[in-house]
Amino acid sequence: MIGILTIKERFMPTKSSAPLIAANWKMYKTLPEALDFMEKVADQVEKSNTDIWLAVPFTLIRDVAEKAKGTRLKVGAQNMNDASQGAFTGEVSAEMLKDAGASFVVLGHSERRNYFHESNTFINRKVKRALAEGLDVILCIGESYQDHNEGMIEAKLSEQILESLDGVSPEQFEKIVIAYEPVWAIGTGKAASSEEVSDESTLIREIIAENWGKNVSESLKVLYGGSVDSDNAKDYLAKKNINGLLIGSASLNVESFVRIISET
Ligand code: PGA
Repeated sequence: MIGILTIKERFMPTKSSAPLIAANWKMYKTLPEALDFMEKVADQVEKSNTDIWLAVPFTLIRDVAEKAKGTRLKVGAQNMNDASQGAFTGEVSAEMLKDAGASFVVLGHSERRNYFHESNTFINRKVKRALAEGLDVILCIGESYQDHNEGMIEAKLSEQILESLDGVSPEQFEKIVIAYEPVWAIGTGKAASSEEVSDESTLIREIIAENWGKNVSESLKVLYGGSVDSDNAKDYLAKKNINGLLIGSASLNVESFVRIISET
């Protein structure tokens, strides 16, 4: 009933409860390709009940954001620098992202951690800068194959969360989404099972509850990413504590993307 909130609702931050489907386009698509994709998915996007976020290359942000105006699509970036400005050749600031039309940024992706040697401390500075500029953040965390086999999942996730989110206030969690992306599942075709992801989502919430409180943990959105495709997507979304997906290769193709958003 409109206007009357239950006790639980009164103490929970008002956050959309729709599943969140985030596309990570990585280093793919030229502008004509991106606009063609947008046209082809437009009808399905309109019919969908999900929140749909597109993390696109820097070069596409302005045009894709323009095209997404008035739709349920939100456009963001895949990385940024932690400084507000300066002599940092090749880098892009949070303010520049906002100026181009981005409303969120993906931080801590394992490809950034592995290929560009990004540490939790560096990611933490970026998270704080993004929040200070009013951007939403998708923070990626996940254990390596070795950590996975050596029983180090909890230790790794806990270290990544505590160090990457150090100094972030409970209130600021309203702008944070955590994507659990085990490194061994990304781009390998070996997706983690929905049971496994559900267990790790519970673990992530326990770590958050211990450090930022139960309310923050309960309203936090936890996504799964790693070889999600149009066949397995619904298994994850059927789990109560998996709030959405971060999708790489299957988000590049119109058919598979449309299938995924139409099933949610
Ligand atoms: P993938 O990538 O879906 O191609 O495995 C996911 C990601 O890197 O976010």
